[in-house]
Amino acid sequence: MQKETIVKAKQGLAGTVEIPGDKSISHRAVLFASLADGVTTIKGFLEGEDCLSTIACMRKLGVVIEQNGTDVTVTGKGLQGLREPDDVLDTGNSGTTIRLLMGVLAGLPFSSVLKGDASIAKRPMARVTGPLKMMNARIDGRQFGDLTPIHIRGGELRGITYYSPVASAQVKSAVLLAGLQAQGVTTVNEPHKSRDHTERMLRSFGVEVETDDDSARIMGGQTLDPAHIEVPGDISSAAFMLTAALIVPGSKVKLFNTGLNPTRDGIMEVLEMMGANITRENERLAGDEPVADLTVKTSELKGVTIGGGLIPRLIDEIPAIAVLATQAHGTTVIKDAEELKVKETNRIDTVVNQLKKLGADIEAKDDGMVIRGPISLTGGNADSFGDHRIGMAMALCGLISEEPVTVSGTEAIAVSYPGFFDQLNRLKGSS
Ligand code: S3P
Repeated sequence: MQKETIVKAKQGLAGTVEIPGDKSISHRAVLFASLADGVTTIKGFLEGEDCLSTIACMRKLGVVIEQNGTDVTVTGKGLQGLREPDDVLDTGNSGTTIRLLMGVLAGLPFSSVLKGDASIAKRPMARVTGPLKMMNARIDGRQFGDLTPIHIRGGELRGITYYSPVASAQVKSAVLLAGLQAQGVTTVNEPHKSRDHTERMLRSFGVEVETDDDSARIMGGQTLDPAHIEVPGDISSAAFMLTAALIVPGSKVKLFNTGLNPTRDGIMEVLEMMGANITRENERLAGDEPVADLTVKTSELKGVTIGGGLIPRLIDEIPAIAVLATQAHGTTVIKDAEELKVKETNRIDTVVNQLKKLGADIEAKDDGMVIRGPISLTGGNADSFGDHRIGMAMALCGLISEEPVTVSGTEAIAVSYPGFFDQLNRLKGSS
């Protein structure tokens, strides 16, 4: 297990960072390109371990994929070109890989087994296998199809109208991908709109998808044309650099190429409410996704209350928001966020327990957490528990703690942010 010790920044963070590619978009680019008939090129691909798991799985299904750093070329032979894998499909730590793949495999006439690491083995799959079974998929796993390993023998599917109890883009995407292969129309309704990268990108591959506020609909039998995909920087990774610059006194950092999709930019709304000094420049489109360059300066922050439809728009940023809240004046309340319990770790427990160890005034709630600030963090030892975002959040605490912070399990950070410590050290002026 790797460990990293982070000492207090001696001066403000300064400089520029290129935010690595968006994880959600990188997965979809490889997956959809594998279903298209022809050659798709992808630029700005995230070389994180999760997205590499998607590439490995698609190769096992017979797709030819060349990866050169952030450039990827996928030669697809259409959905029917995928072949029965001769080994288990290992999705590693990646929930997006396993859940979206289930939607694809549900309609294909062969047998496959999907599994992941110890964290994936605990995460709920019935939210996807349930609607897929309603579509006639033959799919099973431990606990009647809720836990890995998952076995699928795909076949004829029928379109359904599905009311998902959770706002989850992984559920929505899996059902839409099965819907693409089903008889008739498939509609997914959600309690709040989740990230819409699937809907946007399927259109780039020539598929018609209808959307409104909280639903998406697809007609079965459509095929995908190859495309050229430009992946914007991941706002979920940018959130950690924004947090770092906001809490270290005297900082000014510019982040290039941050994705600002409106279904993902809840963090920007919260930062504005907290009083963060962030300016946007060069607002443009990268393919179908809005992006901009952001300049962030250290700011005096105030506590906020976050809940409702904002939660799905910032669910992955809550570990970073919790760190910010320790430095904000007043109380921050995060509610309606039960989904945190089924992420790479139970992020209510891991955020609260680890931040408490470093001196934060933080309390767990059944649907979120309450944090009081500002507080002078003491520092000490923390653990990522194999969760990339917990590892990064704890590392940021070291930048402002009285004593250094030693984070165990920092290898997990490569899941979404390879080069995180290099970039951070550069901004600190310590490399
Ligand atoms: C993702 C959707 C979200 C998010 C995850 C990536 C995606 O999960 O937390 O990191 O790429 O579709 P849910 O669909 O479980 O909300």
